[in-house]
This record gives sequence, structure tokens and C-alpha cells, in this order.
Amino acid sequence: MSEKRSSFSGKIGFVLAAAGSAVGLGNIWRFPYLAAQHGGGIFLLVYVALAITFGVALMSTEIAIGRKTGQSAIGAYTSLDKRFRFLGVLESIVPIIILPYYSVIGGWVTKYLAVFVSGGIGDAAQDHYFDGFISQTGEPIIWFLIFVGITALIVLFGVEKGIEKVSKFMMPVLVVLTVGIAVYSMCMPGALEGVLYYLKPDFSKFSVTTVLAAMGQLFYSMSIAMGIMITYGSYMKKNVSISSSVKQIALFDTGIAFFAGLMVIPAVFSFSGGNEAALGKGPGLMFVTLPKVFASIDGVGGTIVGVLFFLLVLFAALTSSISLMETVVSVLKDKFGWSRKRTCLIVFIGCIMLGLPSSLGFGLLKDISIGSMTILDIFDFAANSIIMPIAALITCIFVGYVLKPKALIQELEIGGKFTAKRMFTVMIKYIAPIFIVLILASSVLEAFGIMKI
Ligand code: PHE
Repeated sequence: MSEKRSSFSGKIGFVLAAAGSAVGLGNIWRFPYLAAQHGGGIFLLVYVALAITFGVALMSTEIAIGRKTGQSAIGAYTSLDKRFRFLGVLESIVPIIILPYYSVIGGWVTKYLAVFVSGGIGDAAQDHYFDGFISQTGEPIIWFLIFVGITALIVLFGVEKGIEKVSKFMMPVLVVLTVGIAVYSMCMPGALEGVLYYLKPDFSKFSVTTVLAAMGQLFYSMSIAMGIMITYGSYMKKNVSISSSVKQIALFDTGIAFFAGLMVIPAVFSFSGGNEAALGKGPGLMFVTLPKVFASIDGVGGTIVGVLFFLLVLFAALTSSISLMETVVSVLKDKFGWSRKRTCLIVFIGCIMLGLPSSLGFGLLKDISIGSMTILDIFDFAANSIIMPIAALITCIFVGYVLKPKALIQELEIGGKFTAKRMFTVMIKYIAPIFIVLILASSVLEAFGIMKI
């Protein structure tokens, strides 16, 4: 290897960077509507229970693998057991698929921030503004290039001077903005109804799908089974406790998701007069409904809240895209021994080429689709609903039955106490694999329209 392996300077740097990866678009636009749809408080309880058991166990596993081997996914699995090299390859494919389309959406966010900053709130609140924008050819591509450019620049600066520094600035700002906007949103007229809708458990909506939806969201949100946490773990110093770091990351991720709900749901309820259907699903909430909500606020207030909101979303998206790009860069760097500069340039160009079809999939290439899935949706589905659960399942089998949990428990005990050994073993060997199979089955059934989550 031509360059010495980089590392985070200490625990805070590591936790904020990993939390930056975990907190992303999923926390802000997906978590709130899933919670609303699946019985409010009951979904929140299920999610928290899963996060502290299942989520923490899987995240600890990956970070421990990364730190133990000091390598990114492919090298890490190969050095633990040559037969499992394919698992490293499988996990590394996930960020390669996600980074380009995630950056396309990151470009949309950047565009909306620019529109709000330049006083275009009235335009952004028009019907069909969003559809009109994403179906163009040139403009979304330019914003996509800007977003990928910023990501690549940060990754170019390296682990400590790039990723860690940016995370240490962006993550605290993100917390302040999320909590601040949530408080503002809860003070809007008629918002209380939304708060209650979000927090009150509605047991009639509880079913197996509640658990599956929470579980699917958890995977995506904690950036599990895509090599990211292995890569970040490989940059972690030995004197830092993995288990206490993971608890903090989980708290961060779940906390921001929770506040995002308090930010989005009451505001939409206030605007729509308590109509829960207005919450909608997916990008429409963020790019169509919320701009209308902001525009309904009198005076410059709407512009200010809108700017702060899209700034917050941009920070969330950037810290996630950085982790995706760093994972790809790290795999290539480890494999070919290239310099960081050269690897970043190659990944930058590759990401642009792979992202173009997703960007064009709403206009020029909109005829390429499967059912109602656009090109972007197809990539999202392949990575998150198929490859990721398969990789997670094989990881559990590998750690549970081939490598044996003990080998990782040793790593987890370095740098701090690790008391949940029993639970860790039971999770990895028995509970997690069963859940993962259920998630995989449900997403496949959902894709075929047989089941509705
Ligand atoms: N965890 C991020 C979110 O909640 C998404 C993400 C996925 C980030 C994959 C990095 C990698 O939005």
C-alpha cells in the first residue's frame, strides 16, 4: 500500500462521522411517514426496541470486523476467511449502486436550497414545480454534478482532515436545526393534532408489517451491510470503545429520526387542516408538500424556515454520501494501491456516469421503467431490498457459525467494557437471520404487488 492507513483522531470524530452516515435522507423523509402510516407511537416503540437490540448488534459486528482487520470490506472478509471474499464484494457493490442515485437526490436538495436562498419560495410551492424540474435534462444533471463535486472534494481531503472535520461541523448544526424547526413546527396553529397523531400508539395499525417496516427502515438508516461501517471501523483507533460508540451512533440516528417526525408531521397537519393523506409518501413530501407548507407561513418566515430546512437536509445527505464515496474509494485504494487523489478522481467520474441514467429517468429516459418504478427506484430496490438483506444474512451466518461470535467479542472488548455478550451471540446466530429472511421475503412480495408495506 502506498499511503499509511488513515484514522479518525478519536472517539468523537468517529462517532460523528458514523452518525453522519446513518443520519440521512431516510431519517427525514422516510421515517416520519412510515411512523405515521404504521400506528405512530407503536411504530416508534418497535423501532427503538429493534434499534437497541438488532441494530446495535449488527453495527457492532461490522465495526469490529473493520477494526480487527484494518481493511475495507473485500480485504476484511478475505483476511478473515478466503472463502468469504465474495461477501466483501457483495457488500461493496451496495455503495457503488447507491452513491450515484443518492447524489441525484442530493442534487435536488442542493437546488431547492438555492431556490429558497434566492427568494424563489413562491415558485417552489407551485403545483408541478418539482415534476417540471426533475423531468428536465440539463438542470438536474448540473445540480447532481455540484453535489458529487462537493462530496468528492471532502473525501479527497481524507479521513481526518476531510470527513472528520466536516462531520464535526455539520452534525452539531444538524441537531440544532432539527430540534429548532421541530419546536417551530409544533407551535404552528393546529399542529398539536399532528403531534398526537405521531406519538399516540394506534394498536389497530399494529401487525407483522409494522415490525417489518421498522426493520427495513432500521437497516437503511443505520447504513448496515454495505461495507460502510467496516470501512469506518478500519479507521478507528484501538483505544476507543466500539460498544459505547455504537450506542451513541444509534441514539443519534434514532433521535434525529424522531425529531424529524416532530418537524414534518405537525407542520403538514397544520397546513392541511389535519389531513393525514397530505403526508404522502417519498420525495413528494419533501419537495412538494413542505415547500407549500413553508410558503403558507407569513412574511419572510417561510423563506427562513425553508432555507434552514433544506440546509439541514443537505448536511444530512452530504455526510451520508461522503460515507458512501469513502467506502468505494477505500475498497479501490486497498485493492489497487492507488493514491487517494487518483482513486477519488476515478470514483468521481464513475459516479457521474452511473448517476446519469437515474437523473434522466424522470424525463428523457422515463420510458425505461418496471411498473411504476423509475430507473432510480430500480437501483434503490436492487441495493436496499435485495442485495443488502442478502449480504446481512450471509454476514450473520459467517459471524455466527464460521468465524464464531467469540472472535469479534474479543475485538469488542478492546478499548472498553462489553457486557452484552450473550445477547450479541443470540442476535447474530438466531434472531437476526430470521428477521432478515422475513424482510427479504416481504420486499420481494411487495415488489410483485402481493403485499403492501
Ligand atoms: N443511512 C442513510 C439514511 O438514513 C442512508 C444511507 C444509505 C447512507 C446508504 C449511506 C449509505 O438516509
